[in-house]
Amino acid sequence: MNYQQILNKASKELQLKNLKSPKLDSELILAKTLNVRREEILLNLNKKINKSHLNKFNYYLNMRSNHKPIAHIFNFKYFWKYKFFVDRNVLIPRPETELIIEKILKILPSSSNKNILDIGTGSGCIAISLIKERPDCRIIAIDKSKKAIKVAKRNAEMHQVGKKVKFINIDVDKYLCNKYDLIISNPPYIKNSELLSLDKDVKLNEPKLALSGGSSGLETLFKIINKCKMLLKINGKLILEIGHKQGNELKKYLILNGFNQTKIYKDLSGKERCLVSTKN
Ligand SMILES: C[S@@+](CC[C@H](N)C(=O)[O-])C[C@H]1O[C@@H](n2cnc3c(N)ncnc32)[C@H](O)[C@@H]1O
Repeated sequence: MNYQQILNKASKELQLKNLKSPKLDSELILAKTLNVRREEILLNLNKKINKSHLNKFNYYLNMRSNHKPIAHIFNFKYFWKYKFFVDRNVLIPRPETELIIEKILKILPSSSNKNILDIGTGSGCIAISLIKERPDCRIIAIDKSKKAIKVAKRNAEMHQVGKKVKFINIDVDKYLCNKYDLIISNPPYIKNSELLSLDKDVKLNEPKLALSGGSSGLETLFKIINKCKMLLKINGKLILEIGHKQGNELKKYLILNGFNQTKIYKDLSGKERCLVSTKN
């Protein structure tokens, strides 16, 4: 079989399983199998695949057919400018979360040396990307999941910032250290009733602790806002990723808890995604 034939066959198989991007996934799997860039596959569609590569390709394809995300099959995902190790213990970093990084970089000039807290760090993608951009800042990153903290530390080592970001395994409820200039969080914000209707890829593979925001979807967000009124300095900024229908309710809650100037920004698909607020 040549590359074109194998890609056609694989795409059809993934399409039958209702996967969202069967063609792209097949190309990524073939590229990984052959250890080449995807572009090289597309430029050599008539090339034949050998038996051992075909076996390897089918092994990966079978995992993808069973809804294992590409990021889990290969154990990495790109976020911002960097490659992160990921496994079942952390949320796979999402492109829309890069909006948080964009907003923070606008708030912090390049020579900033602020105290920053990242709540629910998961893979560490936000804290690590940020310290790379603003190396004079001090970042503490916390997560309730011990296994997530292990992954975040591994990523920090991989990007040589293991000594610059401090990772702590703790529930935000119990965290009461220091005062911060800036607090960031991409918390779980999906309503429990909506968890069942998520894509199988997500539902079967990503940690519930990273997804579930309780019955209203707002439980962890409210908890974080409450905590941040104590942890933030006056005029400190709170930057949150939020669900696209949660903006109005959060704005009201922030006013009640001593925050002002709340702004909400949309992601590339036009959905409200990032909230920036200032503590009075
Ligand atoms: C949506 S994931 C975000 C991960 C990562 N920051 C990102 O943007 O890809 C939320 C993270 O919050 C953590 N988490 C959930 N509840 C928490 C709590 N009460 N205290 C601390 N971390 C919590 C979860 O373990 C998970 O790693």
